[in-house]
Amino acid sequence: MDAIDRLGEFGRQLGGRRALVVSDSGVIAAGHTQRGIESLGRAGIASTVFEDFHENPSSADVDRGVACAAEFAPNLLIGLGGGSSMDCAKGINFVQTNGGSIHDYWGVGRAAKPMLPMIAVPTTAGTGSEAQSFALISDAKTHAKMACGDKKAACRIALLDPRLTMTQPRRLTALTGIDALAHALETYVTKRRTPISQVFSREAWRLLAGNLARVLQAPDDLEARSAMQLGACYAGLAIENSMLGATHALANPLTAEYGLVHGQAIGLMLPHVIRYNGRQFEELYLQLVQSTSELAGYPKLADGVEGLARFVEELVEKCELSMPLTDCGAAEDHIPRLAADAAKQWTGTFNPRPVSETELAELYRLAF
Ligand SMILES: [Fe+2]
Repeated sequence: MDAIDRLGEFGRQLGGRRALVVSDSGVIAAGHTQRGIESLGRAGIASTVFEDFHENPSSADVDRGVACAAEFAPNLLIGLGGGSSMDCAKGINFVQTNGGSIHDYWGVGRAAKPMLPMIAVPTTAGTGSEAQSFALISDAKTHAKMACGDKKAACRIALLDPRLTMTQPRRLTALTGIDALAHALETYVTKRRTPISQVFSREAWRLLAGNLARVLQAPDDLEARSAMQLGACYAGLAIENSMLGATHALANPLTAEYGLVHGQAIGLMLPHVIRYNGRQFEELYLQLVQSTSELAGYPKLADGVEGLARFVEELVEKCELSMPLTDCGAAEDHIPRLAADAAKQWTGTFNPRPVSETELAELYRLAF
């Protein structure tokens, strides 16, 4: 029996009788959703699937999901898929239980009433959404990314089954893997870091940095897949406690302007941010490097922060995600506009070294 086959058992533990399963079409086609539904059925839980939403779900997607929930009246929510499925399920939970529209929950702790229990079943090793109380939903009209957070929106159970990640295309493994690695590295150094969040970040770093190249080479390596999935979840727990940094602030405008996929935008900016932060916070990065420097396949302490930045650059290359920013349609004269947008990103405020428009512009320039 794989972990996915225990979904019904966990649903029962939460008192589930009727489950709304939020899954995207790719995950449904891979057969994962059906296995979850069968397990729910064996446990006597009725279910229906909501799949009418997009990647990076919007407020309109959430509205359609809420209409589906109003008809089915679930008492349990299941986000079975990548970050989009889990975020969409959380978004539906806010509006279904507390009314209004998802815009009302932009920010932290805006839901007054109790929310439905939710189980997350990630099929990628990436966002770590299964370990967070935030739903990232974009406004259907302005495309502004709204981070809607409330402790009540956190998943009660994260069901990790590494076999579900094996059907991902190589590119998705690469994109989500680099994103998860960035979560480990960014959370370790943020202004909000705590000894607890750093434990999660350090363990995420060990698991992700040591296994990303391995899963690219051997996609069926279950041990490496397990490490990636657990690492991504730990990195998600670190985000929940310490937020993110400048890499995410720089990546978001690249996605908004040029449609660059999140993981690639992250991979292009992360090494530059490590070098930038490293000039003032060398000690922090070296602590992280030291935690694995005796192990084969990790950067060596003697190579310092530059060794870490190069290690990340090489991984991005192995992932086939490295390219100059001009390749996605960016031009150097767009830099002021991009930097102005990056300066408005919430995540940048948690970066250990301050980043104003001037520094953000400089960091973009390095990626051309
Ligand atoms: Fe990310």
